[in-house]
Amino acid sequence: MRGLAAVVLAVYGVVTAHAWCTKDDAGTVVRQWSQAFGIGGNGNREAAIQGGSGFFIQLMRDEPVMRRLFANVSGDNTTSPVFGAHALRVITGLDLCVNALVDIPVLEKLTSHLADQHGRRIGLQPRYFDMHLKASGDGLAELVDNFNMDAWYNCMGPIFKSITTLLH
Ligand SMILES: *[C@@H]1O[C@H](CO)[C@@H](O)[C@H](O)[C@H]1NC(C)=O
Ligand SMILES: *[C@@H]1O[C@H](CO)[C@@H](O)[C@H](O)[C@H]1NC(C)=O
Repeated sequence: MRGLAAVVLAVYGVVTAHAWCTKDDAGTVVRQWSQAFGIGGNGNREAAIQGGSGFFIQLMRDEPVMRRLFANVSGDNTTSPVFGAHALRVITGLDLCVNALVDIPVLEKLTSHLADQHGRRIGLQPRYFDMHLKASGDGLAELVDNFNMDAWYNCMGPIFKSITTLLH
């Protein structure tokens, strides 16, 4: 009996490992994300750069060791255009993930590409991504009325988790 339970749990675990969020939650996240940044179309590039920079400034303050990771993108000068471009790149990557929430095959290709890209970075730790997930949710809550934090975690949690799979 115990053996069967273990097998059932193991199978269940495999099935849910890549469970993405519901269509309802995905719709909410896409709508609220575009309310905050709307990078595509009539997007606000300045808001995106500021939102992205804010996160890294906070991260480097909380984790000084992170400065070394961002040495090549002017991590020591967060007002420089090089750093701003980096922040925009990260927000744009997040934007691609958010919009792929409604197209799971695209989302899976994207997350496996991002996992591959980040898996080769020495010094990256999964908890930095947990911090990013939380910081971006907190940041959006300030930009969007009635921000749905549950939907954010339901949808973005699995994305951030899948990006860090090669870091363990
Ligand atoms: C920074 O750039 C230099 C020269 O292009 C490269 O050798 C180095 O590996 C880079 N460092 C990081 C952390 O990407
Ligand atoms: C940071 O970058 C800005 C914009 O390029 C520049 O004006 C400023 O002097 C730089 N600050 C430092 C400390 O290098």
